[in-house]
Amino acid sequence: MQPRSYHVITFGCQMNVHDSAWLGAALEARGFAPAELADAEVVIINTCSVREKPEQKVMSALGRVRQATGGDGRVLVAVTGCVAQQLGAELFDRSPQVRLVAGSDGITEAPGAIERLLAEPEARLTLCAFTEDFPEKEAAPRRCADASALVTIMQGCDNFCAYCIVPFTRGRQKSRATSAILEECRQRLAEGAIEITLLGQNVNAFGRDKTGDGTSFFRLLEQVAALPGLRRLRYVTPHPKDMGPEDVAAFGSLPTLCPRLHLPLQAGSDAVLRRMRRRYDSAGFLRLVEDLRAARPDLALSTDLIVGFPGETESDFQATLDMMEACGFMSSFSFCYSDRPGAAATRFPDKVPPEVQHERLQRLQALQDRLGRRWLDARVGVETTLLMEGKSPRQEAAPAKDGGGPPREEDWQGRDPYGVPVHVPLPAGADHTGSLIPVQIVAAKRHSLVGRVAPASR
Ligand code: SAH
Ligand code: SF4
Ligand code: F3S
Repeated sequence: MQPRSYHVITFGCQMNVHDSAWLGAALEARGFAPAELADAEVVIINTCSVREKPEQKVMSALGRVRQATGGDGRVLVAVTGCVAQQLGAELFDRSPQVRLVAGSDGITEAPGAIERLLAEPEARLTLCAFTEDFPEKEAAPRRCADASALVTIMQGCDNFCAYCIVPFTRGRQKSRATSAILEECRQRLAEGAIEITLLGQNVNAFGRDKTGDGTSFFRLLEQVAALPGLRRLRYVTPHPKDMGPEDVAAFGSLPTLCPRLHLPLQAGSDAVLRRMRRRYDSAGFLRLVEDLRAARPDLALSTDLIVGFPGETESDFQATLDMMEACGFMSSFSFCYSDRPGAAATRFPDKVPPEVQHERLQRLQALQDRLGRRWLDARVGVETTLLMEGKSPRQEAAPAKDGGGPPREEDWQGRDPYGVPVHVPLPAGADHTGSLIPVQIVAAKRHSLVGRVAPASR
């Protein structure tokens, strides 16, 4: 075990990915170094409870930790995030090795709590209270300046969709102060970021809660888009019912706003949408898609879909497939419905049997494969720009062999404005990470594209 070292295991959404990165940076500011699981003095499991069996996942992660660290009592194990919020001190009973449980707001206090627990080996702590204000985190400088930065603009959700646990685990919606958001964006841009993704569970409702400062989502977007140095702006996740005309028009008026929107549909049947408490119907969703495409004709949409919601009939399910076709989603995340504690649908009758859910999920995913393939194929021949992320993973595993001498080109991976990974050969020996490179798309793979440096920029 290396003293003052840490290891973070992350489950869940981008919020958790972002929280884990912050935890790491905050610990490093206190003199900790990242380490492999087997060597770490502090192990943090940052958890998600949105779908099936999250508690088992946490327990099996704890089992892995015990195995890797040899059950060493000197290793400080912390559970943070949504399962921590849900179970609280119960986690101490379930796993004696856990000494810190920090929920959605409490995670902001976790770095200090870890220091305290290292000094007091007998102590245990829970940090599971929700705060009144937006839980502002201490500033933590990033280890490596990423070209792409995530910035949180709100926490929690007030929507209470009938299937969802998030309002219980992340708490009520709390908007962050506009000044703090802009400050963090400026900081990331100064460190070298050129792409910013604004994060929240329901971003379009930004400002519409008691911690809001009067700034609307659109006004915030405008201010972020105007920051010098920003080249690409994205946000996730919007709610269709909260996308106002200004939010739609922004796709036409803000040039840095990427032409890609993840817009969760969940289901195509109006009866199911009503029971889900989504507060839009299929016609409203289609109108929104039409307006978005009118504002930005090259906009691509992706979505989240749930199959087998209680009471979903075959024709309800067919309506979901029809909507997928009508919207032409480039990609989607799709899930079988599962009961979540506290969520209203847990008490709904007519649960769909798992085998029916799985069969529907397979049909849905087969359709999505076709739609995705069609979308990727249509990109072939187009000129676009990539934000380079690094060498292609394949390349790293097996460097190009070129008859002995050093390779003249290496396979790199970047993201196009749609967030699609694109592989492109680039001159060897240089670090292209973080640069914007114009390319022409020459081929489509199953989930990615292949490009060549655009002729004009050669
Ligand atoms: N705030 C976002 C995302 C919430 S969670 C939104 O409003 O869309 C991410 C996705 O998990 C949801 O969009 C939904 O598709 C899925 N999900 C949430 N609860 C679920 C449940 N009980 N069963 C299956 N999928 C669920
Ligand atoms: Fe969950 Fe609905 Fe809130 Fe999304 S909008 S986090 S699905 S309650
Ligand atoms: Fe999971 Fe919590 Fe995110 S439940 S999806 S980690 S908000």
